[in-house]
Amino acid sequence: MNAIVSVTREWGIGRDGHLPVRNRADMRRFVRLTMGGTVVMGRKTFETFPGGPLKGRRNIVMTRDDGYRREGVERVASPEEALSLVSAEEPDSVWLIGGASVYNALLPACTRVYVTMNDMSVPADTFFPDLDENPDWVLESEEEGGTTEKGIAFSFRTYRLAKAAE
Ligand SMILES: NC(=O)c1ccc[n+]([C@@H]2O[C@H](COP(=O)([O-])OP(=O)(O)OC[C@H]3O[C@@H](n4cnc5c(N)ncnc54)[C@H](OP(=O)(O)O)[C@@H]3O)[C@@H](O)[C@H]2O)c1
Repeated sequence: MNAIVSVTREWGIGRDGHLPVRNRADMRRFVRLTMGGTVVMGRKTFETFPGGPLKGRRNIVMTRDDGYRREGVERVASPEEALSLVSAEEPDSVWLIGGASVYNALLPACTRVYVTMNDMSVPADTFFPDLDENPDWVLESEEEGGTTEKGIAFSFRTYRLAKAAE
């Protein structure tokens, strides 16, 4: 499994339940990478999607609510149940897509993290762990992405679990 996330300079990922940065190139890359695969997410992130489940992908939503039912969604009650549901899948086609609680719970089960690093600071209330400060993760590649419509420079980074790189 791999994680994919869009962050600010301080690794902020959310503000008042939404993304802190609008970045269309990041959205297109997200679709290109995840299409045809499985996306694993928290209930709150799922509920920010205006069109319901992400099309062309298997949608797995984590919630403690036993009665949670949504068309096109497989509900799981724990990180362990999510891992068990995807155990037969090609690992690189399974994507952890947030939010913070689900990233925190399942990051140790990921091999790579695809980070869009937006070179800006804005107040955020939800954060991804700073991988530059975490010796378990190494920066594998970084590619300039250009600038957003609002002139914010960004890059696409890939981090890899250090022990898997040995
Ligand atoms: N920048 C990015 O790339 C990115 C990506 C995704 C999300 N986000 C942002 O992240 C924020 C949302 O993050 P969040 O952490 O508040 O919410 P979240 O992780 O999307 O969802 C949290 C919910 O997931 C369920 N959950 C979490 N851990 C669980 C566990 N161990 N077992 C069972 N269920 C569990 C619970 O659902 P119940 O309450 O139903 O039990 C919990 O309330 C938003 O601002 C969103 O825009 C940013």
